[in-house]
Amino acid sequence: MLNFNYYTPTRVVFGKGTENEVGALIKEQNRKKVLVHYGSGSVIRSGLLDRVYASLEAENICYVSLGGVVPNPRLSKVREGIELCRREGVDFILAVGGGSVIDSSKAIGYGLTNEGDVWDFYAKKRTATACLPIGAILTIAAAGSEMSDSSVITNEDGWIKRGYSSNYSRCKFAIMNPELTYTLPDYQTQSGCVDIMMHTMERYLNHSTNMEMTDGISEALLRTVMKNARILKNNPTNYEARAEVMWAGSLSHNGLTGCGTDGGDWASHQLEHELGGMFDVAHGAGLAAVWGSWARYVYKDRVDRFAKLAENVLAIPHAEDQEKMALAGIEAMEDYYRSVDMPTNLRELGIDPTEEQIMELADKCSFQNTRTIGKVRALNREDIEAIYRMAR
Ligand code: NZQ
Ligand code: ZN
Repeated sequence: MLNFNYYTPTRVVFGKGTENEVGALIKEQNRKKVLVHYGSGSVIRSGLLDRVYASLEAENICYVSLGGVVPNPRLSKVREGIELCRREGVDFILAVGGGSVIDSSKAIGYGLTNEGDVWDFYAKKRTATACLPIGAILTIAAAGSEMSDSSVITNEDGWIKRGYSSNYSRCKFAIMNPELTYTLPDYQTQSGCVDIMMHTMERYLNHSTNMEMTDGISEALLRTVMKNARILKNNPTNYEARAEVMWAGSLSHNGLTGCGTDGGDWASHQLEHELGGMFDVAHGAGLAAVWGSWARYVYKDRVDRFAKLAENVLAIPHAEDQEKMALAGIEAMEDYYRSVDMPTNLRELGIDPTEEQIMELADKCSFQNTRTIGKVRALNREDIEAIYRMAR
């Protein structure tokens, strides 16, 4: 087990009706004015936003609102939020929504507390030294942003999707009522479940050794999400299944399943981020579409870990031939994706990149051939291009 530093300062308030506690939770933060940030309307249609306002008003908390965050959240909306918050003297941001809304909130938070252009952080030109405090009311179990240190923003200038991570942006609290996710379309539910699984699989497929505890947590998490995602396919209002998935979503990306590892691979995420930036696909579905191709490209470099995943998560019988087990595991994972109507290649994802677009994806993902991605095997621009081609 390698050394690690596990920091997870977010207060989790979990369960039915917990959104009504938001006013009291913000009151504890002792702030003057709140930005209520949300997406394209699901929180209005469900009545959640009205309940949030009522809870804030009950505690005499001043607020302004900004909706319109879209999946693969845009830099232009972040800039709009920064301007609005400056004008209004906002000193706390409440994200009501999913990963996109929380990430947009984090970016606004950086913009308000650091000099200069907020995109600099995502372009890796500078590091942030602060972020405005943020709270979240989660409406989709997926990105794990409610407990993670990350945010991912898409710059419309060039359609580049980039992430930035720092502990400053970790939410002060995350309110998670599984009932709030009942209204999700199945595609979003399943896409979210893939993302949750991928946050653990990216960490599980690594180059470390002797991690009984972390591996056990990871394997249980993966089995739990697969089981409950299948239940939700036919019964989207099954509270227990929604609750298991929601809790797994936070634990999968708050660092827990990375303790003692080398930090994980993350190549599939990097491959997907370019697809999200250029084709605006749902993040989890994009991950499902590239994972099998990535796995077949690299599994020989860590065949024992792929075999362990196959045996302990995908019920592949133990065998002498680890390579056979690893390949059977990759196939079983793709079968699982198909069983929940998730794509296993780009066509099934609904996109058909041209030759030129494959080159552009590989250029962007390799930062114009100046970096490699992934740890199981470090992938250069040529490898990245090959994987996009395999995934077609
Ligand atoms: O905008 P509204 O109308 O709310 O609709 C959203 C959106 O269309 C809808 N939705 C959310 N909750 C709903 C609902 N519809 C009905 N009922 C509800 N209860 O679902 C759609 C997707 O929402 P979004 O917030 O985009 O989903 P998700 O949580 O999957 O976030 C995806 C974004 O997070 C990034 C992704 O790259 C992507 O940009 N990620 C962020 C991470 C982080 N910050 O740690 C890590 C992840 O790896 C990921 O990269
Ligand atoms: Zn993800």
